[in-house]
Amino acid sequence: MSEKLTTLFSHQQVAAAIRRIAEEISKDYGDQPIHLVGVLRGAAPFTCSLAMQLTMLVALDFIRVESYFGTNSGEIKDIMGLSESLEGEHVIIVEDIIDSGQTMRYLVDQWQKTQRPKSLKVCTLLDKPLRRTTPIEPDYCGFEIPDTFVVGYGLDYNQRYRNLPYIAELLLPDAEV
Ligand code: IMP
Ligand code: MG
Repeated sequence: MSEKLTTLFSHQQVAAAIRRIAEEISKDYGDQPIHLVGVLRGAAPFTCSLAMQLTMLVALDFIRVESYFGTNSGEIKDIMGLSESLEGEHVIIVEDIIDSGQTMRYLVDQWQKTQRPKSLKVCTLLDKPLRRTTPIEPDYCGFEIPDTFVVGYGLDYNQRYRNLPYIAELLLPDAEV
């Protein structure tokens, strides 16, 4: 196996980015309660770290979706839905990374239609704007990165590396990319 990891953001850099996002959220919402919805599995560590930096009342929920991008349109399937209704809530969807944008676009469109939240914003640890095929802009973002494959802090390659406490670029042998 000739995979190579190169650190992109250290644990300290990730922690500082999460503190900065928490400050931005606190400035925007003040003492109003918010509902954080993390997208499993990748966003679990980020969602929990972020929640612990927030001082208002926070409801924490997780959902799980699967994407099939074999076709041009790209199809998203709900694997695990919301535990509670989002009606009347200030909601922030939390993702590990926004790549094509299809997952986040799907969630935002679906919940705007069916859940009637008071507000709905998007927070991501990482953003790859160069890869976007569906327009979506995060309201809160840890880092913008170029078109590289990254792992750690929840992000995986074939279910490995999610537990790294930092974010690394994964270099694969040519045939696997
Ligand atoms: P999107 O619908 O293309 O924006 O897909 C986002 C999902 O693709 C993320 O939640 C990740 O699960 C996965 N993904 C995209 N880029 C990477 C990466 O560089 N490393 C690990 N997973 C990624
Ligand atoms: Mg994800």
